[in-house]
Amino acid sequence: MAGLEQDDGAGLIRDAEDPHLRADGPDLPGREIGDGDDQLAAQLRRLVMHGELGARSTGADRTEIDQQFVRGFAGFGKRLRLDDPANPHLDPLEVRDVDQRPSLPNMLSVVSHPEAMPLTPSEMRDLFPIARRYAYLDHAAIAPLATPVRSAMTVFLDRLLEEPFEPAHWERLRTQVRTRVGELLSVGPEGITFTRNTTAGLGLVAAGLDWRQGDNIVGVDREFPANIYPWMGLKSRGVDLRLHRPENGRIDVEALLGLCDGRTRVLTISAVQFWSGFRADLAALSKGLRGREVLLVVDAIQAVGALKLDLSAVAVDLLAAGAQKWLLGPIGIGFAYVSPRMLERMRPVTIGADSVVRDREYVDYDLAFKPDARRYEEAAPNYPGILGMGAAINLLLRADPARVETTVLRLADRLRDELPRRGYALVFTPTAAGERSGIVSFRHPRIIPAEVHAGLREKGIIISLRADFLRASAHFYNSDEDVSRLLDALPQ
Ligand SMILES: Cc1ncc(COP(=O)(O)O)c(C=O)c1O
Repeated sequence: MAGLEQDDGAGLIRDAEDPHLRADGPDLPGREIGDGDDQLAAQLRRLVMHGELGARSTGADRTEIDQQFVRGFAGFGKRLRLDDPANPHLDPLEVRDVDQRPSLPNMLSVVSHPEAMPLTPSEMRDLFPIARRYAYLDHAAIAPLATPVRSAMTVFLDRLLEEPFEPAHWERLRTQVRTRVGELLSVGPEGITFTRNTTAGLGLVAAGLDWRQGDNIVGVDREFPANIYPWMGLKSRGVDLRLHRPENGRIDVEALLGLCDGRTRVLTISAVQFWSGFRADLAALSKGLRGREVLLVVDAIQAVGALKLDLSAVAVDLLAAGAQKWLLGPIGIGFAYVSPRMLERMRPVTIGADSVVRDREYVDYDLAFKPDARRYEEAAPNYPGILGMGAAINLLLRADPARVETTVLRLADRLRDELPRRGYALVFTPTAAGERSGIVSFRHPRIIPAEVHAGLREKGIIISLRADFLRASAHFYNSDEDVSRLLDALPQ
């Protein structure tokens, strides 16, 4: 335990003289930590229990550490690597520029190597303190936070409290997060721009296209306002919004495409409808629009993080999401994916120093936009939000998006199966596999939804109350017991 000590229970590890933890040269021990060192392994496990570190024990004497956060290591001026040199796409953890206060926590990397650090649902559940008390089944509303998400944000805040701002350090982490968002969608980082929320991402299109009187937008009736008001706002410019009305929640792709004509500039749709949980067939839509000038825009907040979205296989022009639901991130941050075609057509509306190539030449003005989607990030970024969202996406990547989708659908299917047997009707009954999502909306034929909702809340079961129905939305880390708690607590 050379040089490693633990402080007064706050979960800090200090002074990493231990050779397992640090090396100065390129010949590194890799990501094994605590090899043969039971005491260190025990300490790390304790930190993991507190959610301060992501790690997994691979045996009695080995613990692999997820180097998202290393709190309070001394020796920041030296090269510190905990990663695996055999995996070149894992960012090397160099922290030369944050040497001033080794006693303060710092963040070396906001991401980890998903394959090396897989997360099972129960391991992920341990990172959600809320799950100890509540059956939290409301991810279609606002997600609770995992401790690594909180840590990512507070590390930034704590350092700023006592240390000068280190732009290069935080920029490196912002770039990591951009890359990870891209990975989640199977696209490169050049298509990703950070936004405040879903609405702001969709608003980029509404504000940035060169609309002409008589243009139109095709959308879906009963969608969340985020995907309606930005387009309604164009009425004063002579742009018409045409809405397809889904029947029993089901969106008729042919009917939607049929609303498009020679003046349609945008077809916009939610990947999952927030009230019915109906999942849109984006592949069919994008196929139907192939060869046409209509831009396909997607509000993905009810899908991304829960259902796998592969934008390398489906041609979408802009996809926007806030982090606060299935992505498990904080409120007030999100992203948009911008396709090359959309990048050409969508002019940045709010233009600032960070929109342009020469973003540090403050008075040598040159309005040449960055060649990628960063041009839509006009100025000072929301670092705590970006880092928190990055830590959340990191958890999802470690869990494996395909597995997340399978589990989310399995838990939702269980509800869809068992609710009718308990006298509750589903608001929408999906039949095809591709129509289902993590959202299950239901109601009792007689009992007032607000009463059911309040009763459940008293018992620590959290779901949403919509006007005349209830909506449950379980995530990957929820257990079957959470679902049973809901089912068993429903009044008959
Ligand atoms: C389909 C859909 N879009 C958008 C939002 C939220 O939008 P924003 O991130 O702009 O707050 C919600 C939230 O309820 C939603 O269900």
